[in-house]
Amino acid sequence: MKVLALSSSPRKDGNSRLLAQSVLDGAAAGGHDVELVDLADTVTAPLRDCRVCRQESGACSIEDGYEHLILNKVLPADAIVYATPLYWYGVSGQLKIFIDRIFCYMKSDYRDWESVRDGLIGKRMVVAVSSEETYPGAVAGITAQMQEFARYLHNDLVGVLRGIGNTRGEVERDPSRPLDQAFELGARLFEERSTDYRVDTSRSGVVWPTPL
Ligand SMILES: Cc1cc2nc3c(=O)[nH]c(=O)nc-3n(C[C@H](O)[C@H](O)[C@H](O)COP(=O)(O)O)c2cc1C
Repeated sequence: MKVLALSSSPRKDGNSRLLAQSVLDGAAAGGHDVELVDLADTVTAPLRDCRVCRQESGACSIEDGYEHLILNKVLPADAIVYATPLYWYGVSGQLKIFIDRIFCYMKSDYRDWESVRDGLIGKRMVVAVSSEETYPGAVAGITAQMQEFARYLHNDLVGVLRGIGNTRGEVERDPSRPLDQAFELGARLFEERSTDYRVDTSRSGVVWPTPL
């Protein structure tokens, strides 16, 4: 399986990138192909008004690495790790721009919009957040946004990792050991249980079957 991490902190030796790398290290240990992309290097401009800036062919006119990223790295991936610092109780601007610009490729004006839509469906998703503050509500906004993002794309959100730290790399000293948690989640990324029941979901009532 292919696992892609989108690291969205402009600080490339920072805490959220370490969380993302640890997920990838775990996935690589489990035999999966892994890659990390720094969004700060790849995505340089925000969404504009497509009616004004889309080319006549339907292609996006923003010339940066976004098109290559979405078509050649995001669509083929089986799992995406979205790593972000907590900025003002939300995701980083780089990650928000990445999400916003999916619109340019999912609108019917874009020639291959159906293959983009189909390619985004069915992935496993991990969210990794680093923050200075520790209280649970600080990441409630990110959790809610990414859960809705996953639901909309028919992705399975298998985990929201949280590491506490402020100075570069400080997350390594977080006593809750988020880097170890990230590694373990990466190692079992495709086996991790991910459920979201409806009233008519058929289920046994037992979550973890007793071994025979
Ligand atoms: C613009 C900005 C906004 C921030 N907002 C918050 C915040 O609302 N809550 C918080 O706990 N930390 C906040 N922080 C601290 C970062 O989340 C923290 O330093 C994090 O570990 C940075 O991750 P990084 O090393 O991957 O960049 C903010 C930092 C910056 C630069």
